[in-house]
Amino acid sequence: MSDRLESIVQAWGGEELVVRYDAPSGAWILIGIHSTRLGPAVGGTRMKTYPSLADAVLDVTRLSEGMTYKYAVQNFPKGGGKAVIALPPDFDPARRTELLYRYGRLVHDLGGLFATGPDVGTSTPEIDIIAETGAPYVFCRSPEHGGAGDSGPLTAVGVLSGIEAVCAHLYGTDSLESRRIVVQGVGGVGGRLVRLLCDRGAQVSFTDVNAEAARRVQQATGARFVPPEQVYEVECELFSPCALGGILNADSIPRLRCKGIAGAANNQLAGPGDAERLRARGILYAPDYVTNSGGAIGITGIEGMGWSLEEAETRVKALKGILQRVFETASAEQISTEAAARRIAEANLAAVRA
Ligand code: PHE
Repeated sequence: MSDRLESIVQAWGGEELVVRYDAPSGAWILIGIHSTRLGPAVGGTRMKTYPSLADAVLDVTRLSEGMTYKYAVQNFPKGGGKAVIALPPDFDPARRTELLYRYGRLVHDLGGLFATGPDVGTSTPEIDIIAETGAPYVFCRSPEHGGAGDSGPLTAVGVLSGIEAVCAHLYGTDSLESRRIVVQGVGGVGGRLVRLLCDRGAQVSFTDVNAEAARRVQQATGARFVPPEQVYEVECELFSPCALGGILNADSIPRLRCKGIAGAANNQLAGPGDAERLRARGILYAPDYVTNSGGAIGITGIEGMGWSLEEAETRVKALKGILQRVFETASAEQISTEAAARRIAEANLAAVRA
């Protein structure tokens, strides 16, 4: 187990991993600073239980790398980081607030090296608590507490633009009228996305492991529910992964019956071979860190650079142009879209180093 931990960290290529064991709660706090080349590291805080500490470390390293690419592909002046609070299986919820205070203090004591926002397992209520000790290095506080609120709505706006970019490349028009679109996961982003897609006249199917969330979305939108285990086999124009990562893999990719993929989840590809696997199947994949950048870019702009909400929405929607460039590069160079996006991001990173 410790061998695995060491090799994960050593293979990562990030700048710094902050590890704190929080004895009163039994939680591990991990902050991955992947790159500060373009600016101070920014990334959400993921709070959940992991099978092992090595799994939590793997998640924080991969997610922080994703944040570097998220900002770098748009040449946005922020670096890539991410935090994971790995809760013990027997975590006592009564210890939650104190844990978040101690975590906020740690973020504060890093003095701006890392700033955070919401992610899986943290939303506005948690962020407001973290900000009490972590300010000014905490994004997405509630408006009552002086923040711009949840990043979900702007992320959904961006994912919609990503879906339009895929459709435009595949069909020559970004109209979503009658397009069959399947959304996996209807949480903070996916739920809003289903609504936006229905408004555009798309034919939306969705799934979620949470029956209550599924029922709510179905009642509000009339979209069709499909059981989670069948979601990869639904024939459609576009598949939108908006739940957890790693779902595009050797098992799921051969089952897909879609023409394109654009979704909100971070780290959708399970491993390095999966982008090629999609390319070989002729499925147009919009790299996750471009498609889901709306929250991170929009909120950082509003809270950190004085953008208005309108300005933020305009900037977020501009990810469509970046995807267009990614798709063109990929076809011209005969490489995967993931490799093409990476190339653009690496060039932006290298330009700063030079
Ligand atoms: N957690 C989100 C992401 O991965 C959103 C976010 C990050 C929001 C950083 C604000 C700041 O992009």
